[in-house]
Order: sequence, then structure tokens, then C-alpha cells
Amino acid sequence: MSDFIPIWIDTDTGVDDAVALLCALQLDRLDLKGVSAVAGNVKHENTFKNARNVLAYAGREDIKVYPGAIKPMCIPLKDASQVHGSDGLGGVIIPDSPAIKETMHAWDAIYQCAKQEKGKLQIVAVGPLTNIATAIVSHPDIKEYVERILIMGGAAVGGNATPSAEFNIYADPQAAETVFQSGIPVIMFGLDVTNRAYLDGRDVKDISDFNTKISRFFTDVVQANMNFYQSFYHREMLCIHDACPLIYLQYPEIFTGQKAGVYVETQSQISFGKTVTDLWSDTKFAKRETLVILDADREAFAKIMKDLISKYR
Ligand code: RIB
Ligand code: CA
Repeated sequence: MSDFIPIWIDTDTGVDDAVALLCALQLDRLDLKGVSAVAGNVKHENTFKNARNVLAYAGREDIKVYPGAIKPMCIPLKDASQVHGSDGLGGVIIPDSPAIKETMHAWDAIYQCAKQEKGKLQIVAVGPLTNIATAIVSHPDIKEYVERILIMGGAAVGGNATPSAEFNIYADPQAAETVFQSGIPVIMFGLDVTNRAYLDGRDVKDISDFNTKISRFFTDVVQANMNFYQSFYHREMLCIHDACPLIYLQYPEIFTGQKAGVYVETQSQISFGKTVTDLWSDTKFAKRETLVILDADREAFAKIMKDLISKYR
């Protein structure tokens, strides 16, 4: 049996998505079968372009990137350009990928890949879940072919897009609810863990000191995020939210979590997009199948990320 883990990354390529892609390429147990773009942090034309260009910048233009949803399933797109810049990469310019532009829709490409991988494919979704939900709705038998879905999204407690909702879920709650209730095993990497698995100023400096093409790109592209965290949270910290599910796949031992029921609020105003999670409730949901990741060894996470970026020459 192969030791490699076949994965698919669905991304709204913004700053932390870009770093997560760079990490994925250096995680030697992962076999990245394909990437798809979704509207989220910024418009789809930018997320599609960014995913293609970041892979090419890392020398991996061979990995195909498929176009996906240009808006959420039921509501208008609300982006996060205030965090990622209007282009999604904090204004950092990198060359256009020489790869041909794929035209197959993300949801069809994901389904095709899942069937090819005969049930072993793991989907890593690090943007709004529009493409994944569309794949489930368009190809109901996909659940026979996907081993599990690792989601950067949600929060058992708190939020960032609003006080009660995390951006990826808030951007398309109907899609998220479709995915959470699909019957495909889900691991949720919410803000509970991604806000704890942060890089501090020393970690960012260590990466900057590598002084390579990719480390310089990392330093430049995260600057917008660093400024945001400094101004918003008054701390020298950097959350690479989207790297968490990818690093988990190779280093699960540095994370902790527990099973819970997770349902997405799609009706309310004030808690729209909240991942209602029954972790600390006397009354539990009947279905409690989602593995909710709650914490990580921050030092170990930071060291792993630095090691991965250091592999680029
Ligand atoms: O809330 C953080 C998530 O929203 C990350 O995936 C980030 O890239 C944005 O999409
Ligand atoms: Ca993202």
C-alpha cells in the first residue's frame, strides 16, 4: 500500500492559502493530485490566477488548477480583501504561470479525481465550501469516493468575519451545511486551533533570514497580514490558518481535538454562518461525527513550517 496520501486542495488563494500551497508541496507524504479555485478572499479571477502563479513560482506549474465558483451558492460574494489585498497576495507581483488554463469546472474535476483515486482521496478545503458542496450536489455518489474532507473553517467558539462566524463558513453557509451534513467524514480546523498555531515575529524573521526566492515571497506576501494582526490584535503574530489541515495530514500528533456535532446557522442574522458545535453543551446533537481540532503545539507547528519553507532553494 502506498505511503503517499492523495489530496486535492480547494482554495480561495489569498495570503495564507499561498503559504499553505508552498507547505503542501514540501510535505513529502502528500501527493497533490489537483487544485481548484473558489471565490472568497478575493474574486475568482484573482484566486484562480493566484493559485496558478504560486504553484508556478514554486516550480510546480505541472499541478493542474481548475476554475470554480465565482460566487457563493445562494448569497452575494463578501470578500476579505481588507486582509489579503484586492489582488489576494498583498500586492506582491509574481510572474504569470506558463501552464495552460484548465477549463473543466472544479466540481467535475474533483469528482473525476475522487473516482480515479478509488476512495483514497482526501479533500483539503481552505476557502468557502462552494465548490465542494456543488460537487456533492452534482455528483451524489462522490461520497463513495472521498475518504474525508479537511476543512479550514468555522469555530466552536468565536469568529473573525463576525463575532460568531469564521470567514470561510460565513462566506457560504449553505454550502458549508451541505458539506457538514453530506455523510463524508469531516475534520474541522476552526479558529479554535488556527489562532493558536500562529507564527510569532521571531519565526517570521527566521524565515526571512533564509533569503531565498520563496522565503522572500513569504516575507513580502505575509506583510499585509502581519500589519492586520498588529493593528487589529496589537500583537506581532501571524496565523497561517490554511496550513493547519495540510500539516495535520503529515504530523497529526501535534494537534488535539474531539468528535462533536456541527451544524451551520443559515437563517439567523446575528449568528449567520456560525458553526454550532456541541462540545461544551449538556445537550448533544444526535449526530456527532465531525472531528473538531481544538489545539496544536505551537512551537512544533512553527518549526515544521520553517523547515518546510527552508527546503526551497
Ligand atoms: O478565516 C480564515 C480563512 O478565511 C482562511 O482560509 C483565509 O484564507 C480566509 O479564506
Ligand atoms: Ca483561504
